[in-house]
Amino acid sequence: MAEKTLDTLFHDTLKDIYYAERKILKSLPKMARAAQSPELKAALEKHKDQTEGQIERLQQVFELIGKPARGKTCDAIEGILAEGEEIMDEYKDNPALDAGLLAAAQAVEHYEITRYGTLKRWALVLGMKEAAALLDETLQEEAQTDEDLTGIADAAVNAAAMKTAA
Ligand SMILES: [Fe+2]
Ligand SMILES: [Fe+2]
Repeated sequence: MAEKTLDTLFHDTLKDIYYAERKILKSLPKMARAAQSPELKAALEKHKDQTEGQIERLQQVFELIGKPARGKTCDAIEGILAEGEEIMDEYKDNPALDAGLLAAAQAVEHYEITRYGTLKRWALVLGMKEAAALLDETLQEEAQTDEDLTGIADAAVNAAAMKTAA
């Protein structure tokens, strides 16, 4: 059996985030539908479109390493998304629904940020400049999304969550 080196790890982690992104793509419209705040809804819809582009970028990275674009079950994202579903269920029609949804969306972004941050570093170490640039582009989008969500939380969602329903 061949020894597992950093390129094995890079490939495995690429499969992990590819699986995660495709799960996230399916989950974002559900979260957008559930959101009450128009700003949160719009942010989640915008990020769904960005996620499609991110999946394409990952396919380009697979191409660069000469491997088929294939995912590998990512238990972490399954868990994070399951918690989001739980919030949608348990907080349905309640003032704190959006605050919970937004927090769930930020948990997703933070998972992505750690993955893309690592993959970008590894791509650089492995001398794959083009792959690193693609991964960095997505990393910037995830970080911006996280910041936008914080802005929405501060502007409206957290305050609304403290009010009791009229
Ligand atoms: Fe993403
Ligand atoms: Fe994201």
